[in-house]
Amino acid sequence: MKVLVIGSGAREHAIAEALQQSKKVETVFVSPGNDGIAKEHSITSLPQFENIKEFVLSNKIDFVFVGPEQPLAEGIVDYLQHHNINVVGPMKAAARIESSKAYAKNLMKINNIPTAIYEVFTEYDLAKEYLEKCAYPQVLKADGLAAGKGVIIVSDINEAIESLKDMMLNGAFGTAGDQVVIEEFMEGWETSIFAFTDGIDFISTIFSQDHKAIFDEDKGPNTGGMGAYAPVKKAAVYHQFVDENIFTPVLEAMKRDGNPFQGILYAGLMVTDSGPRVVEFNCRFGDPETQVILPLLKTDFADICTSIFTKRVKDLTLEWSDEYAVNVVAASKGYPDKYEKGMIIADLYNDHSIKDAKVYYSGVKNESNHLVTNGGRVLSVTAKANDLVGAIDKAYKRLSELSFEGKTYRTDIGKKGLI
Ligand code: AMP
Ligand code: GLY
Repeated sequence: MKVLVIGSGAREHAIAEALQQSKKVETVFVSPGNDGIAKEHSITSLPQFENIKEFVLSNKIDFVFVGPEQPLAEGIVDYLQHHNINVVGPMKAAARIESSKAYAKNLMKINNIPTAIYEVFTEYDLAKEYLEKCAYPQVLKADGLAAGKGVIIVSDINEAIESLKDMMLNGAFGTAGDQVVIEEFMEGWETSIFAFTDGIDFISTIFSQDHKAIFDEDKGPNTGGMGAYAPVKKAAVYHQFVDENIFTPVLEAMKRDGNPFQGILYAGLMVTDSGPRVVEFNCRFGDPETQVILPLLKTDFADICTSIFTKRVKDLTLEWSDEYAVNVVAASKGYPDKYEKGMIIADLYNDHSIKDAKVYYSGVKNESNHLVTNGGRVLSVTAKANDLVGAIDKAYKRLSELSFEGKTYRTDIGKKGLI
């Protein structure tokens, strides 16, 4: 088979690698990819949906895998399916589960899916009135896609009004802030899980855990994700609960409403005293969770993708490695705010001495025959070992061999799994 992966980050690097490992896959193309991914896979630039269609038809691509949420929210799947192209990912209407928090919250409320109590507002005055009556903390969320940054936890009324003004009056998140969700703050610990689904049946993965804040001990502003580990052993007891009370009702409701979700559904959960509750759904794989989930997956990933677009998920079983995987991200200094680009990346000991450690590239590009930094999250390392401590050690050892000016990373990735 020939496969095309859409996206440019470390997540897409991991997806391309998982597909390439299938004996059934001959070539993996990535668009646009990056110059780090290009060391191992063919990258190509297909800026418009039409370019993708033409590439797929002229190269006889068997299926397209869409990594990020943006093209899904813009209807890439609708477009490609209209041209009889096999694609893994939800149609635009189903992608609203991520692109509209109000849609996702309403769906959860109607179907009794455990989540934070909330209200949706399109008018500043009504939202302000509501905030004046709330108990704190509360969580303010811009409705649309805001690259993981549209969520503000406010601890008192003054902070709440300031943030509301920024969102609804000052356009801090663009049009994403025209509609705002205000919800109850949930106390607990976070974990995430994916469901592979064809819109009818689903099968869920093991649990992983992201580290969203930039600094150790979850301090500082939220980022796209600074590292992850899997499996999260203490989450395993909730697997059946999540399948029965979260994935089953949401997928059945979407099917019933005429928006069946086909692809990878991400559930971000807060495990509270009363059990897991949904923080958010995403309409795609998580980044960096994918970089720890796929390396532990023993089932052929191309078979999983095929079962999604041929609607054979009911026949699917998943087999997992007994190991642990840890992914540590190295970012540019200043990220998630302003940062500089163009720092030369050196791989000091590229002798493959550390087995089972793999570099996934995101914000990088080639300049005068050197790989240089070209984004906030630059690269990440995933390591596997029989125990979590071993995987953590190995990931940090390999990361220490990769150097660039301003290299910023957390030193506590995976530690929560040791408690
Ligand atoms: P989201 O983009 O909805 O995933 O939110 C980003 C992060 O904000 C989550 O990963 C949580 O850490 C935090 N968060 C969002 N909603 C809540 C909530 N209702 N209670 C507590 N924390 C939340
Ligand atoms: N790791 C969180 C996300 O991909 O949205």
